[in-house]
Amino acid sequence: MLEVSGLTKRFGGFTAVSGVSFSVAEGEILGLIGPNGSGKSTTFNLIAGLHAPSAGSVRLKGEEIGGLLPASICHRGIARTFQIPRPFRKLSLLENVAIAAFYGQDRKVSREQAYAAAADALGLVQLPAGPEARVDGLGAAGLKKLELARALATGPKLLLLDEPTEGIQPNVVQQIGDVVEKLRGERNMTVLLVEQKLPFARRLAQHFCILERGRVAASGKMSELTNELVDRYLKV
Ligand SMILES: Nc1ncnc2c1ncn2[C@@H]1O[C@H](COP(=O)(O)OP(=O)(O)O)[C@@H](O)[C@H]1O
Ligand SMILES: [Mg+2]
Repeated sequence: MLEVSGLTKRFGGFTAVSGVSFSVAEGEILGLIGPNGSGKSTTFNLIAGLHAPSAGSVRLKGEEIGGLLPASICHRGIARTFQIPRPFRKLSLLENVAIAAFYGQDRKVSREQAYAAAADALGLVQLPAGPEARVDGLGAAGLKKLELARALATGPKLLLLDEPTEGIQPNVVQQIGDVVEKLRGERNMTVLLVEQKLPFARRLAQHFCILERGRVAASGKMSELTNELVDRYLKV
């Protein structure tokens, strides 16, 4: 589904992502792990088109997408959540998600279709879809769920989740895990998951890629990673 090869991003003299390579098979969940500042979000930004790569390639089903604009990448079937949600605060939850459904899909949709897709996505993450449901008053968990609903409403084949459980309560972490499992099980969605909560990552991901200072320190299944790496990054 996705093949990242030699991906590099320099900001001035600083190399945030350096020769990163990994691939994600269709229907798989790959956990992208690593300490703060190791280049996880920048990798997402390169895949989703927020940044153009300084070098390397990003292929979706064999087609090069590195350097395309975010809207164009979204229309090809990649949706991402942001680590820090920034919804439209004055709009309802439904309107926030409907905008994603309206502009993010690869086909022209009517206003009604966009609202229907938005209600569907909000239902999946268990947020209310009524016109009275506002962004103000949503806690950290609600904002993360809204972020996920906005991504889902674009109808992605590949979902990039950037720390979807950061700062939220254990019971909601479970709920979000259930949603991701359902997406993979029922919709055969492919997921790239950036996550610091390692029990959560281990519950969902089949393979891991560990970043350290912008480089791949190791990758593989749990059973293929060394004890030292597991102790350092992946212990429950
Ligand atoms: N737009 C940017 N300009 C300059 N430096 C950046 C930019 N984005 C990220 N960085 C730097 O790149 C490094 C990796 O950041 P990031 O990808 O956000 O890490 P992670 O998500 O793994 O915590 C950090 O040192 C960060 O300060
Ligand atoms: Mg990050």
